[in-house]
Amino acid sequence: MCMSRERITETIAWQSADPHLTGNFAPIGSEIDAEGLEVISGRIPEDLLGTYIRNGPNPRYEPVSYNYPLEGDGMLHAIRFEGGKASYRNRYVRTRGFEIEHQAGHAVFGGVMTPRPVDPALLGPEDDPDNPFKASAFIGVMQHGGQLLALGECEPAWEIGPDLETRGPWTAGTDAPILMGAHNRVHPVTGDLYALSYDFASPTVTLHHVGRDGKLRRSFDITLAAPSMIHDFVLTERHLVLLIGPLVFDMEAMMSGGSMLQWKPEMGTRIAVQPLDGGAVTWYEAEPFFVFHFANGFERGSDIVIDYVRHQKLYLGYGEPNTQPPTLQRLVLDTGTGRVREQAWFDKVAEFPRIDDRRNALAARYVYSPTLTDTLTGGNGASATFNCLLRIDTETGDVSAHDFGNRIAGEAVFIPRGEAETAGWLATYLYDPETQTSEFVLLDAEGVGDEPIVRLRLPQRVPQGLHGTWVPG
Ligand SMILES: [Fe+2]
Repeated sequence: MCMSRERITETIAWQSADPHLTGNFAPIGSEIDAEGLEVISGRIPEDLLGTYIRNGPNPRYEPVSYNYPLEGDGMLHAIRFEGGKASYRNRYVRTRGFEIEHQAGHAVFGGVMTPRPVDPALLGPEDDPDNPFKASAFIGVMQHGGQLLALGECEPAWEIGPDLETRGPWTAGTDAPILMGAHNRVHPVTGDLYALSYDFASPTVTLHHVGRDGKLRRSFDITLAAPSMIHDFVLTERHLVLLIGPLVFDMEAMMSGGSMLQWKPEMGTRIAVQPLDGGAVTWYEAEPFFVFHFANGFERGSDIVIDYVRHQKLYLGYGEPNTQPPTLQRLVLDTGTGRVREQAWFDKVAEFPRIDDRRNALAARYVYSPTLTDTLTGGNGASATFNCLLRIDTETGDVSAHDFGNRIAGEAVFIPRGEAETAGWLATYLYDPETQTSEFVLLDAEGVGDEPIVRLRLPQRVPQGLHGTWVPG
């Protein structure tokens, strides 16, 4: 089996009419390196030292079927800052599934909603011929225990080297890869990582506790009412909190031609509060809603406070009118009475919320989230398209915004500048549908509405992606 790690230079040779595979969602083919990025406006801060890295789905071969944002090969796009200069590099996340298709020269695995048996002749002796799903680590990226990791959903995390090269599955110091999701939480006091993996076919969710040294401490299970999709979860100082929306995996429905994912509002949303010290789970009930992403959660007396994006109903794709867009809210769970209170931060569409990651599980004051305004006139109508960044002050309720006009933005990553929560920059990629070009933009988190600190022209289009991180130093 060829395991060549030559840089891939071929462009993408196929096209799709799927809105999540056209325009800025269309994948790119080439892996490139570019030094000395051109400054469009502003100035690169001299003291900015580190790398902004963002992952996202970038299918290399024409997929059998495609459901955004559930599949696609991962591609990392990185901007390295040092000494007032910036460079760019992008690389595929070369998981085993990627290498199998790279060797074959075409899609080998079916879509996540249309799994099909894989030709055993294309597999190696270590591969599981009964697994029809391609693990492709296209969702997130984070650093833990000194190791950069590319992350997917319920699959091994993949170790990424300093040149964005894929090294292999992360074992967290054990003798086998550990399965985990794209959203994992670091404890603010211990620095330990908590990671979650659910199962399409089983109601058992496995949580991993990994020390700050990157070594697995223990794994434990929580049993749900049904196999459910859990994309993200909440960590507080003393608890893990799962919000289980009624989005369940139904293999029987899939076998009879239906969707593998079924929305069952009669199940409601269940909230599991698991003490980190190993005590028993307490369950709470709420009306049905779904959460892809939490900004943060923390404890305030007997309350658990959660800032998150609420989807009133699961909404995937673009065909169905989205009558109630996802909105940024605060949920307060009184663990004494079980009462749930809700408060809206912003009444228009929002997703991909982030905070200063150092304040995860603490009372972080500021939440940053993209939204969509009517100044965007381009784009192709696909969901998860934004053109404005918000900063929400959860102490005052004040919202400030940077409207990029007819340019498409993504998730903003907070880059700290000193110890204070106020001081920092916000990093994201922008796409101009008129010129079909991308840029990188850095905003001052204390003045998001101000002129950007710097805008950098990028040497190639950076497709719309998912989650990013800042690696200092
Ligand atoms: Fe996500």
